Amino acid sequence: MRVLSGIQPTGPFHWGNYFGAIQQYVDLQDQAAEAYYFIANLHALNTVRDREKLQEYTLNGAIDLLALGLKPEKAVLFVQSDVPEVSELCWLLLTGTPMGLLERCVSYKDKMAKGLKADAGLFTYPVLQAADILAYDSNIVPVGEDQIQHIEVCRDIAGSFNHHFGETFVMPKAKVLDSSARVPGLDGEKMSKSYNNTLAVFDDVKAQRKQIMRITTDSRPMEEPKNPDGDVLFDLYKLVATESQVADMTALYARGGFGYGEVKKALADAAETYFAEARERRAAWAARPDDVRDVLKSGAAKARAKAAATLARAQSACGAKGY
Ligand code: TYM
Repeated sequence: MRVLSGIQPTGPFHWGNYFGAIQQYVDLQDQAAEAYYFIANLHALNTVRDREKLQEYTLNGAIDLLALGLKPEKAVLFVQSDVPEVSELCWLLLTGTPMGLLERCVSYKDKMAKGLKADAGLFTYPVLQAADILAYDSNIVPVGEDQIQHIEVCRDIAGSFNHHFGETFVMPKAKVLDSSARVPGLDGEKMSKSYNNTLAVFDDVKAQRKQIMRITTDSRPMEEPKNPDGDVLFDLYKLVATESQVADMTALYARGGFGYGEVKKALADAAETYFAEARERRAAWAARPDDVRDVLKSGAAKARAKAAATLARAQSACGAKGY
């Protein structure tokens, strides 16, 4: 089994990224024969239009992934743009991709619906993502729910290429966790940088506590039982608390007689404990940026070898090689 996933360096990673995707990366690096994880800096160029910021977020993204448990000896960790073969493969795929398939993709459709102008980069974004996935003959793609549509598009593109030019690409499958497919943000909507409702994984502990304290809750009186269903505080607590802490909180909700302030404090405490080790590892990696660059360099070399073989196969299949 070959696993692959990518994450955009558009700013600090948040709980949605971690519980929806990164946690799966870490678990799967032990189970997969090969695991490829990359920082999708070419995708991020669609939104980060600042040279220094993109560079900073890219390196920081790698530091975060290492801190959160990716092991260079188990997983191939690299930066998307260090594998130019993927961009070449993207062109081959673009030539057979119907406009209608991309017009239906949510990120483009949403922008259009808001009357905003979209770049060709945003429109063709899912094709670059398909190239990312197909270049490594990936079987499993661990992601959050919001990426399922993109994996479906990738399967469509691969299927029609295989149909037209003969079996060339491996069909990938998305892997989504039931418990954290769509982590809610501070306002109850999907946690997302574009909604400004995120809890950053490595935010300063005090700042994070303040943010948690500001989460709005319903106005049930103290003494009444509370409903955990659809309650953002409870949903977030479940992610970072231990099983017995969750059981205690469930009982407390059923009984009532407490204020949401207590839950917020419990959430902030549990989050601090949950990420404490990763925070230490982060400080250690951040102090050695050249070691991180070395990890990325050797990851890119491995990724390139794999992607080059797939590109050559696809070029031969469609006649872009061997004349
Ligand atoms: P990105 O950078 O938006 O998000 C990275 C990963 O985090 C997941 N995620 C969430 N999961 C649960 N709840 C949330 N609130 C939440 N927010 C984000 C995303 O589903 C994703 O798995 N297009 C991709 C990057 C990409 C990629 C790829 C992914 C480029 N090439 C190839 C897989 C395979 C993206 O924008 O993810």
